[in-house]
Amino acid sequence: MTHIPAITGTGLFTPEQTISNAELVEAFNAYADLFNAQHAEAIAAGEIEAKEPSSEAFIVKASGIEQRHVIDKTGILDPTVMHPLLRQRGDEEPSLMAEMGVDAATKALAAAGRSADDIDLVICAASNLERAYPAIAVEIQNLLGVSGFAFDMNVACSSATFGIQAAADMVRAGSVRAALVVNPEICSAHLEWRDRDCHFIFGDVATATLVERADAASGAHFEIMSTRCATAFSNNIRNNNGFLRRSRPDGLKDRRDMQFMQNGRKVFKEVVPIVSDHIADHITAGGIDAGDLKRLWLHQANKSMNDFIGRKVLGRAPAPEEQPNILQDYANTSSAGSIIAFSKHSDDLQAGDHGLICSFGAGYSVGSVLLRRHA
Ligand code: COA
Repeated sequence: MTHIPAITGTGLFTPEQTISNAELVEAFNAYADLFNAQHAEAIAAGEIEAKEPSSEAFIVKASGIEQRHVIDKTGILDPTVMHPLLRQRGDEEPSLMAEMGVDAATKALAAAGRSADDIDLVICAASNLERAYPAIAVEIQNLLGVSGFAFDMNVACSSATFGIQAAADMVRAGSVRAALVVNPEICSAHLEWRDRDCHFIFGDVATATLVERADAASGAHFEIMSTRCATAFSNNIRNNNGFLRRSRPDGLKDRRDMQFMQNGRKVFKEVVPIVSDHIADHITAGGIDAGDLKRLWLHQANKSMNDFIGRKVLGRAPAPEEQPNILQDYANTSSAGSIIAFSKHSDDLQAGDHGLICSFGAGYSVGSVLLRRHA
């Protein structure tokens, strides 16, 4: 016997600290001035390039981002530091990702009227994991008091939708009654804040999504009609950090490729058609016309990219409420972005309305979840 899976609750952990574009640009430009003064001779001799200043106007125009939430702003905004100062937790303390994840998961449980006893599976799906093992998901499972099993997975910015597909398939097959898909994203720790081309892109957050049998839902919920995941290899978004770094002879520090790298222009050009076609194929296979889609909750990386995708899928410019953006407040929060949009902008849908969550990013990867609202 198979079961229909549903999303019955979501939860969101938002760090208290924010960095406005003005604060970010002021710190970056102070760092650039410092760098240029320290390397004045080499710059004059043409051996290295001077750092160009960043600009608030560029950031808003190129991305739509106005601010970001971060766990620690003091280090990021100190021109002599330029990265968050995050204490590595001791083995006897909860890890940072687990702490953020538990906060979001507890809210998702409350939203669905569920307790830890109702859950059989925890998936921690994120674009970077704080350690190799034990899995962060098993730690979250333990802190919540959930029985059953847990595992980590990483599909970069698509981690949430790939996690929801894994959870939905297990609920459908009956191997679990209910699953929490948790996405703690500490993007500030893998962003190079000294790189003008990308220093404005990311923020920190955690989201959680509760997936369970639709017939067990105690209130309004979203039936998961179908899910679809796809990947196609690309080097245009890459982070080379990994456990082999210690055995490299070329030093551990200041290797630029040990943080997030991207060829933003290429990503923009190549990913828009991949995602638009993916969504169109997915809804067609589900028997839904684009005109019947009440809402698109897209990955939040770039406003114009989302505008392009929305226009291609709907065949017209989407109204702001049809395709909500949250990246002006949160920036790109990797896998969590589309779930923040869903969490904040889904309660008003009516019974029978259809919507689609879609995330995309490094890999390349794209994942979508087709939903129908039930009262
Ligand atoms: N302040 C001022 N100028 C800046 C700047 C900054 N912070 N960063 C870059 N510039 C300059 C560049 O040097 C370039 O100058 P040039 O024309 O003299 O060479 C110019 O602005 C345009 O830069 P470009 O990188 O082409 O901008 P863009 O319009 O492509 O926007 C991104 C950059 C990253 C916002 C955009 O490409 C993007 O969002 N791509 C998709 C990213 C994505 O989805 N990634 C997935 C991550 S998970």
